[in-house]
Amino acid sequence: MSGTGSSPSSRRNSFNSLSRDLELPSEQGCLSIIVLGASGDLAKKKTFPALYHLFDQGFLQSGEVHIFGYARSNLSDDGLRERIRGYLKGAPEDLSEFLQLIKYVSGSYDNGEGFEKLNKEISKYEESNQSGSYRRLFYLALPPSVYPSVCRMIRTYCMNPSSHPGWTRVIVEKPFGKDLDSAEELSAQLGELFEEHQLYRIDHYLGKELVQNLLVLRFANRLFLPLWNRDNIDNIQIVFREDFGTEGRGGYFDQYGIIRDIIQNHLLQVFCLVAMEKPVSLKPEHIRDEKVKVLQSVNPIKCEEVVLGQYDGYKDDPTVPDDSNTPTFASVVLRVHNERWEGVPFILKAGKALNSRKAEVRVQFKDVPGDIFKCKKQGRNEFVIRLQPSEAMYMKLTVKKPGLEMATEQSELDLSYGMRYQNVKIPEAYERLILDTIRGDQQHFVRRDELKAAWQIFTPLLHDIDAGKMKAVPYQPGSRGPKEADELSARVGYVQTHGYIWIPPTLA
Ligand code: BG6
Repeated sequence: MSGTGSSPSSRRNSFNSLSRDLELPSEQGCLSIIVLGASGDLAKKKTFPALYHLFDQGFLQSGEVHIFGYARSNLSDDGLRERIRGYLKGAPEDLSEFLQLIKYVSGSYDNGEGFEKLNKEISKYEESNQSGSYRRLFYLALPPSVYPSVCRMIRTYCMNPSSHPGWTRVIVEKPFGKDLDSAEELSAQLGELFEEHQLYRIDHYLGKELVQNLLVLRFANRLFLPLWNRDNIDNIQIVFREDFGTEGRGGYFDQYGIIRDIIQNHLLQVFCLVAMEKPVSLKPEHIRDEKVKVLQSVNPIKCEEVVLGQYDGYKDDPTVPDDSNTPTFASVVLRVHNERWEGVPFILKAGKALNSRKAEVRVQFKDVPGDIFKCKKQGRNEFVIRLQPSEAMYMKLTVKKPGLEMATEQSELDLSYGMRYQNVKIPEAYERLILDTIRGDQQHFVRRDELKAAWQIFTPLLHDIDAGKMKAVPYQPGSRGPKEADELSARVGYVQTHGYIWIPPTLA
């Protein structure tokens, strides 16, 4: 990260020129970033490292930004800094400069005293900065059960005083509720306290490089325009696989399950970008309007187009009940009722404790009519967008096998980021999304009506699972998941290619 040989402050120019290029509104004045839940896992593993990366690249400047950690534990400033240090990678002098920006305030999440103290500290810093414009960014690295009370405290005690130019913004993390009603209740509670333009609901998949590339790919390439529809595409898979189980978080996971943890948010956001119509412009509201429309066009899920699984050993976790029916694997077919997609299944599949770790979108095209090469059995054209690891996109093609014979084989056109962009560091999702929040760009955040539409799709299925009407079938950890899921994919039209494996190219 820090191998550029210059100090974070001298790397600042990159930010200035970038803001000019993007014609961002010039937002100046001192910036206070307040991480609530500062001593928790999310803050240590994601929030602070993302802030450090932004600092290291010159996006956050000493003198313009101050970071406040807030939590219940009784800690000193140095105590918090030491807890965080181990999660940051960088040159010791850069790390120390960054850590000096952090101040700790302790207090509870539901009474005013701690928040008054917090507000005093923020104001003290703002007054000493004398910029006249105050920006306050609250990051809730907390369980959603305390969102309403914490937001109320922020609203009551910690808002940017209306007498000053600037803003107050709040970042919240999933899970946003457990079903449509609870999500709507939470939205209503937060909606009473903050305007929609102040709320940033993070889905970190929207911060991933290749997810952000989806709109460019689809709408900036003539090649795809005529192909991206029911006439040419047979089926689309959006797949998330992890090769580890719920280690250490079984108790949390058991209340949610894989559909709430991954499919209803991360995979559904990817689905929106793959399936939505072209937005009027790149304005966040135009993009989010199209996402809502495609979500509203999804038909009710049919139970015969769902496979649920639970890996053997999941219930050995003492925090998981012995009779748990919580799925750790699910494959769900979505059908979109519109002109572009009628009849094309979108298979959203996610699983824990499988045989590999990857996330990808696999667009499978229809067979070529009139197969004069008799190559149909070798496999169909596929366009694969590998979100992680080894970011890439590749197009699986049938080509002539080099040699004297007129024989065909499967090959690929491959854009592997590791090869093509050798010296480019791909930013972490959180880093990008925090920067977007500072800039006031809500494009990659989930709007309230989008969230509602997402819950509308999954709530009936989730209620059936919760009521035990749909059962999870067992599967072996380290396997592909239940065989029923492969059978479902085949039934709805996916044709698996045998004898061809894409191998991510490596630098020699
Ligand atoms: C989180 C889920 O939102 O995403 C975790 O709660 C999951 O269960 C994680 O492991 C996956 O994120 P990534 O970025 O590693 O794919």
